[in-house]
Amino acid sequence: MTFQPATQTPTTITEKTAWLAERYWRHGLEDDLDDRLTDLFEVNDEGEMTAQPRIGALTGESRGLMVLGRSGDGKTALLRRMLRVNPVLTEMTESQAGNTLYITVPPEATIKKIAELILATTGYQRVDARLRSADAWEMVMHRLAKFGVRAMIIDECHHIFRRGAGRDVAGAIQSLKHIMQSAGGVALIIAGVPSLRDDILSEQSGETARRFQEFSLADIQPDSMAALNFSKNFAVSAKILGLTVPEDAEIAERILFAQHGQIGRSIALCKMILTDAIIRQRTELSLDRAECVYRKCSRATDMTPFHSGDWQAVRRELSAIGWGQ
Ligand SMILES: Nc1ncnc2c1ncn2[C@@H]1O[C@H](COP(=O)(O)OP(=O)(O)OP(=O)(O)O)[C@@H](O)[C@H]1O
Ligand SMILES: [Mg+2]
Repeated sequence: MTFQPATQTPTTITEKTAWLAERYWRHGLEDDLDDRLTDLFEVNDEGEMTAQPRIGALTGESRGLMVLGRSGDGKTALLRRMLRVNPVLTEMTESQAGNTLYITVPPEATIKKIAELILATTGYQRVDARLRSADAWEMVMHRLAKFGVRAMIIDECHHIFRRGAGRDVAGAIQSLKHIMQSAGGVALIIAGVPSLRDDILSEQSGETARRFQEFSLADIQPDSMAALNFSKNFAVSAKILGLTVPEDAEIAERILFAQHGQIGRSIALCKMILTDAIIRQRTELSLDRAECVYRKCSRATDMTPFHSGDWQAVRRELSAIGWGQ
């Protein structure tokens, strides 16, 4: 794991908290995601990914990638980072040109609302309220082609499959397929909780699901390379922030255990423990404070993974009482 070097060592509380908040911690899935992208886009003769989606020669269709993970796994952080560092994909916003749209689906959004969101991002604000959903989507296809949009990332995509009165799940699935078929070559990346996959598979013909590759965010396993990376990131951050870590306290391992190895949640807890020390102007981390931070954001009442004493013994005891199962 490479750590983004600090341009300047942060010294004040404000600088330190801002520095920490901005840090992206590589965990290893970045390379896996890049590998998946390489399948979605054409590659030049140097073997580098281009912004041209791979289009089926006989079908004229692009392909899709489904990024799945529980809430807090780190899907958004991972995809946002990809878009920041990818040399050929650039985000298009209302104020800046680019070849990639990043849409976050609001909880209540209907399929027509998504079309409106996409239209707004491409600079078309005034959608007639009477416009039918299918027509709004036709406009979307037209604008994607007109502005040379090559990739679309739809985050929180599961929200468009909510059931209920006035909601059109079949229409939503078809719209995704439609993007890959008719937008003049747009690679589609959708992200959501694991039920997103089931929603798309609910289409009997399976015609939309088969156009997507699946990419699931795995948990960090104890003693794995990802766990080692996590500990290193923690240690480097603490050092840059001027915080000493008590020897043999194994705080990083305890954090991973507490969060069941969920990537995003583990990093978030780790940053909270570091922030707790920064804003209280402490110079040393401790198990006591880590436990206190953990209690504030969890429902733990009894023993926690930050219980003082040898970590292996604490872990055995927690496992014996069925902790975290
Ligand atoms: N690699 C990372 N580096 C730094 N912080 C991260 C990283 N991955 C996740 N996080 C942090 O963990 C938290 C959860 O991550 P994120 O919001 O990306 O999860 P998510 O899978 O998109 O969840 P949801 O389904 O609820 O949207 C966020 O506070 C995020 O900043
Ligand atoms: Mg998210």
